Amino acid sequence: MRFVPSVCLQEGMIIGKDLYGLDGILLLKEGQRITGKNINRIQSLGFQGIYIVDKISEDICIQNVIDDTLRQRAIGAVKHIFNCLENKEEKKAEINLLDAKQYIENIIDEIINNKHLIINMVDLKYFDDYTYYHCVNVAVLSMVVGLALKLNREDLCKLGLGAMLHDIGKVFVPKEILNKEGSLTDEEMTIVQSHSEKGYDYLREKWEIPIKSYIAVLFHHERYNGTGYPRGKEKGNIQLFSRIIAIADVYDALISDRPYRKAVLPSDAIEYVMGASGLFFDPELVKIFVQKVAPYPLGSCVRLSNGKIGIVVGNYEDACLRPKLKLLNSEIEDTYLDLKNDPESWNVTIVGNVVDNSEIY
Ligand SMILES: [Fe+2]
Repeated sequence: MRFVPSVCLQEGMIIGKDLYGLDGILLLKEGQRITGKNINRIQSLGFQGIYIVDKISEDICIQNVIDDTLRQRAIGAVKHIFNCLENKEEKKAEINLLDAKQYIENIIDEIINNKHLIINMVDLKYFDDYTYYHCVNVAVLSMVVGLALKLNREDLCKLGLGAMLHDIGKVFVPKEILNKEGSLTDEEMTIVQSHSEKGYDYLREKWEIPIKSYIAVLFHHERYNGTGYPRGKEKGNIQLFSRIIAIADVYDALISDRPYRKAVLPSDAIEYVMGASGLFFDPELVKIFVQKVAPYPLGSCVRLSNGKIGIVVGNYEDACLRPKLKLLNSEIEDTYLDLKNDPESWNVTIVGNVVDNSEIY
């Protein structure tokens, strides 16, 4: 299986992984052959790409930290919470909160079972459901970091809940401001930034959720050097959960298409996070984050400094920029290059991602 950007999809390619659309509806099934109509639909719905399987990638299997069905259910619960609050159906929203809490427990079980796995956060978001996908992604990323920090199960739940609800305050911000293309006025920016306090106020006053979870919501836009909001807190004065969520939030937002900018590649997002270590983000947490999230996700095609092209087949926690690759333009079939462990690869580096299919075949 490998990841192919939407613009490079071709008729006849075989789907490698189920693709879900609005409300978790299955759009494309694993094993299905893709048609021109499918390609148009994928592109119009705003998917950046999909997994396909072909001869060169048939032996590459991609195991996710959490199961797709569980992810879809969690996304559905978050969506219902947001929608109910928007429609002022507060009691209904609380019922969905119970589902969300159960899914957080399930996600913790899965990340504990898969704790050796490195996260392949390839963006498969359905554009209109960005907020809900984002909330779940931030929760998963945060809990993976929390587990690496050896937080106990109770705290992992509190962290997951805070992360899943970190942007709940956006329900109270007008949609036309949230989705505005182009830059915001100072006044609009102040309204958008009020979402962390509005979310905190709502959760504290209306719902019975742990203090640690709603405090995490309040401070998720604080920055390590004191340049964040709403209080301009610094370093260890920012609660641990908020420091974790801050990294996960920015990372996932960067790898997503937004109305005002295109997504960046996971490797570029990781580079940004590393560059902001000690400035915006807690350096100790950045160290953990970059071990747990792959800059070059499994199945992505990369270009090497020696001119060769490879598909990422393995990642290492202690050498995130030097994955194991299956070489594509090699005379011998099934040639692998382990950038971390093969001595002949020591002069070779990854210089970029390959996004044009014609270079692969
Ligand atoms: Fe936020």
